[in-house]
Amino acid sequence: MNKSDTKVVANDGMSQARERIEALRRQLRQADYDYYVKSMPTLSDFEYDALMRELQQLEKEHPECFDADSPTMRVGSDLSTGFRQEAHHYPMLSLGNTYSEAEVQDFFNRTAKLLHDDFEIVCELKFDGTSISLTYEHGRLVKALTRGDGQKGDNVTANVRTIRSIPLQLPDGPWPDFFEMRGEVLMPWEVFELLNREREEQEEALFANPRNAASGTLKQLNPKVVASRKLDAYLYYLLGDKLPSDGHYENMQAARSWGFHVSDAMRKCRTLDEVMDFIHYWDTARRNLPFATDGIVLKVNSLRQQEELGYTAKSPRWAIAYKFQAERACTCLRSVSFQVGRQGTVTPVANLDPVQLSGTVVKRATLHNADFMKQLDLHLGDMVYVEKGGEIIPKIVGVDLDARINRPIEKIVFVDVCPECGTPLVREDGEAAWYCPNMDACPPQIEGRIEHFVSRKAMAIEGIGEEIVHLLCSKGMLHDISDIYRLKADELALLEGLGMKSAEKLMQSIAASRGVPYERVLFALGIRYVGETTAKKLAEAFPTIDALMDASLEQLSAVDEIGERIARSVVEWFSDAAHLAIVEALRAEGLQMASNAEKVLRGDVFAGMGIVISGVFNHHTRDEYKAMIEAYGGKNVASVSAKTSFILAGENMGPSKLEKAQALGVRIVDEETFLSMLPSEQANEQPSEQANEQPSEELQPTQPTQPKQAVQASEQPVMGSLFDGFE
Ligand code: IVH
Repeated sequence: MNKSDTKVVANDGMSQARERIEALRRQLRQADYDYYVKSMPTLSDFEYDALMRELQQLEKEHPECFDADSPTMRVGSDLSTGFRQEAHHYPMLSLGNTYSEAEVQDFFNRTAKLLHDDFEIVCELKFDGTSISLTYEHGRLVKALTRGDGQKGDNVTANVRTIRSIPLQLPDGPWPDFFEMRGEVLMPWEVFELLNREREEQEEALFANPRNAASGTLKQLNPKVVASRKLDAYLYYLLGDKLPSDGHYENMQAARSWGFHVSDAMRKCRTLDEVMDFIHYWDTARRNLPFATDGIVLKVNSLRQQEELGYTAKSPRWAIAYKFQAERACTCLRSVSFQVGRQGTVTPVANLDPVQLSGTVVKRATLHNADFMKQLDLHLGDMVYVEKGGEIIPKIVGVDLDARINRPIEKIVFVDVCPECGTPLVREDGEAAWYCPNMDACPPQIEGRIEHFVSRKAMAIEGIGEEIVHLLCSKGMLHDISDIYRLKADELALLEGLGMKSAEKLMQSIAASRGVPYERVLFALGIRYVGETTAKKLAEAFPTIDALMDASLEQLSAVDEIGERIARSVVEWFSDAAHLAIVEALRAEGLQMASNAEKVLRGDVFAGMGIVISGVFNHHTRDEYKAMIEAYGGKNVASVSAKTSFILAGENMGPSKLEKAQALGVRIVDEETFLSMLPSEQANEQPSEQANEQPSEELQPTQPTQPKQAVQASEQPVMGSLFDGFE
């Protein structure tokens, strides 16, 4: 083969790769569109992931094929983006609002009077998120601006590019060469609830509603965080010189055909009755939507007529927003409880006479914090207004002062000592929340920390939930997190409601947690402000706990995304002798205290064994199982051979592995059996009598614990925690 032949072959290979890359991008774009815009998935997650991985690999091998619009770029980059302010090509106006049907009628009549001609009104949902303006040039998204002050907005293009329902590149046209698409970025309820649950676990400020969560997320400096938050977007208005039609409705149908996420909930109406029907229908039906809406927008359909009607200083005369009444009830305030969270935050919760609200009975509602309570000037027996509005958590929004007349009243004041341990409360500068500083002896803080330690995302110790933690603490068997490793099966089995079987299972789960990686141990320690992501960042920057303990405020703050607040909290935590003692106790118990730590050998049950891991697991991740195998002397091997000792098989084990295992007669071990192979020091002792009486696998507490309480919601995120048992 001469030189030129080589080049031909190389070029050939390159063009093949390019073709494949293009094909994969097309396929993934289509799949994104089917999933995020049409809500009709055409690929399984598995197929999608496989194509994405292939594309990522090919793009890595062929940097010359780089394309910023590639589906692989949707995951966001870690680069921080400060926001540049840029002028809007067309100003972003707001809409006139009304809560009254009479004013909708006025709008309709006024429009008829001003136009002297037939007209159509397009009714559509008013999405409750944050508005966005997208500029497309030659079918490519080139810019995304927030509303800002209406004249100029923040350039949030890098963040918007991670939203999968927003097309980066339009499929074939015909679309105008230049146009702007206006719409609303939303956080679906499901994503919002999950996000707040995660934040609650961290006692981080909760987002009051999906709107705040969406706008907060869009203003995140790290597009990777934005990508992880799973925002969605609906587009509702097209602007440009060469639009397909004079009709807004028709333009939106065209935009849908170009790949934009345009709602089906749109109706062209000719009469006021039709408009009202639409409003009444969606006032109820919106409760079944997966995202928040706060009203109906009415727009004159013809763009020519829109122009004719023109604008006031702030808003168009051709459109109006009818806002739904927030669902509100009035009930009597019986008392206020003060709930102490894991980090000591004290949240006031109103206890109410049960009242029906949006189909559920509400007995408690948040009062947010001391400042809010003071603003309301609450008194016992007050008639208070409760709203659910855009939030999932009821909140007190006001007091009926008239109902207070001629009644003896007692003012409610915020506590100044911890309701659980009596320690005087403190508040940090600039923070709304008061907290109990007695972190080492305040019972709900101790229990909260233990609950956090064993939780799924931390040490994933199964069979020890809120009730069991409460029971063990009240019996004096747990004082801090390290005591978990000193629990004994026979002692546990003696507890009322626990049998030997449950106790042994718990012991196995505790033993297995020794394999949990360092970054999750760090998260599990419950250091204030150190959530899952921060723990990962810290573990990357300080690969051993000793390095982290020794780190100065400056060294910590120098780490990407670790601000001074977190750095200070870490330094403070490690400067407490009691915490150092806990770390040492955990280290002695064999917990992972370093990334890629030299493996601490816990035992030899798997000594000399080669074990294959295959399938999907319920109790632990693959990495954890790998760590467990290594901690007990075994080796995790990749492929099945005659030498394989056994296969640890989860669900959906690969068919080829299964076939091979059967052919070679290799034993298949399921998750539960594997966990039962791990020694727990007490597991072999005699079961107690109680164990025989209580064969139940469920761990039953002797006494119910306090329901988890306290909630929060307001315009600004504030501290608090959600509680179940609301209804
Ligand atoms: S049209 C000039 N349509 O409501 C008219 N706005 O003040 C531009 N919104 O924050 C707005 N759903 O982001 C329009 N279907 C819809 C909408 C909608 C939500 C938001 C918009 C703005 C506010 C109006």
